[in-house]
Amino acid sequence: MPGSALSSLVDVQHFDLTNPPAGFVEDPFPFYDALLSEAPVLAQPDGSFLISRHADLDRIYRDTTLYSSDKKAIFAPKFGLGSPLFEHHTTSLVFSDPPLHTRVRRIMSSALTPRAIARMEPGLIATVDHLLEGLNDRPSVDLIADFASRIPIEVIGNLLDVPLEERAPLRDWSLAILGALEPSLSEADLTTGHRAVEEFRDYLRDLIARRRESPGDPETDVLTRLIGDENSATERLNETELIQNCIFILNAGHETTTNLIGNALALLHDYPEQRALLLAQPELIKPAVEEVLRFRSPNQLGNRETKALVEIGGVAIPRGSNLQLMIGAANRDPAVFAQPEVFDITRRPNRHLAFAGGPHVCVGLTLARLEGKIALERFIARFPDYQILPGRQHGGRLRFRGYAALPAQLSV
Ligand code: HEM
Repeated sequence: MPGSALSSLVDVQHFDLTNPPAGFVEDPFPFYDALLSEAPVLAQPDGSFLISRHADLDRIYRDTTLYSSDKKAIFAPKFGLGSPLFEHHTTSLVFSDPPLHTRVRRIMSSALTPRAIARMEPGLIATVDHLLEGLNDRPSVDLIADFASRIPIEVIGNLLDVPLEERAPLRDWSLAILGALEPSLSEADLTTGHRAVEEFRDYLRDLIARRRESPGDPETDVLTRLIGDENSATERLNETELIQNCIFILNAGHETTTNLIGNALALLHDYPEQRALLLAQPELIKPAVEEVLRFRSPNQLGNRETKALVEIGGVAIPRGSNLQLMIGAANRDPAVFAQPEVFDITRRPNRHLAFAGGPHVCVGLTLARLEGKIALERFIARFPDYQILPGRQHGGRLRFRGYAALPAQLSV
């Protein structure tokens, strides 16, 4: 149903992200429309504020003087001070301010340069082709379990050189740890999240010890690079920072990229004229990936905390407030995107905020774009007539938007 038709039915002033109305998880877009037009800055019952306009998010992401990424105040009551999830999420670079952020980010981005990523391309193509080969003769497949989720696990596994036979638990750990960032959590989610951090931490301790004994090539092995050279004067991470940021890189690059690929395949099925266009003009692959990132952003929500009293859109927001940055809404803002509700793979320019912006802009964006491009172009070239079958399951999350299952028939 077109967003604008439903948006007038949405009671936006009482919208509560921790207790969203029926239908929001499956289709948040009418609600985003209503937020943009009626309440672009909306106070929440828990004291946080929803911010939806593209211009506001863009400005907030760039301004680290007024807006902090540090989440200790929010995560202490949510996870328990000193708990595994607390330690993980408050030590990873994404939820920290300088100087920790600057230090970790410098080391991490030096390992993910465009040159380093270009070197990964042949391996990535081989991984995708191998997966496609395995799908070839099957009457039906699950595009998430059998394809989309398998690519980032291999890519990030290669990045840290995790032995192939040790990769199986990575996906569940990652889903449990990132799942704990949902606006509201059950006791069971918390327990699973804490356990996942502990198991992941124990695993990495062992992997790091092995890597210290026999280091890899720092040019290609990100873990060796993050461990650093004990005999060199260059800055290094302490043990906790090292472990927690390895966990973060594995998580950050997994669910998001799975969702990019899964969402892209679902959209190209649901909009057959766009699929036909991409098949006729394969050179549109890069703008097509950008449009998927805008239209079904894998990460729908960001957060910042105000460091002072601020005014956004005429609303005074006290110091210490949690801002819920509605990336999914900002990427449909008609002030920036003509006909934002139209999925158009030729859209240019496409200034979406799917990777956020400013000093915390996604470190892995070049890699994610490359994964999306190769997965998509090779998939549709091989299976141009694929059909999604009834039974698709939404992942059920507000922050990370994607499918848990996407059954499909590959050839007709
Ligand atoms: C389509 C896939 C992806 C999307 C949509 C995505 C989205 C994002 C967003 C929105 C942020 C900013 C969070 C914030 O500051 O509030 C972020 C940060 C980050 N992402 Fe990604 N990401 C993706 C893939 C990846 C990959 C493949 C990697 C690693 C190989 C990665 C590593 C990171 C890291 C390390 C940060 C933290 C940067 C910092 O705080 O300075 N991401 N990502």
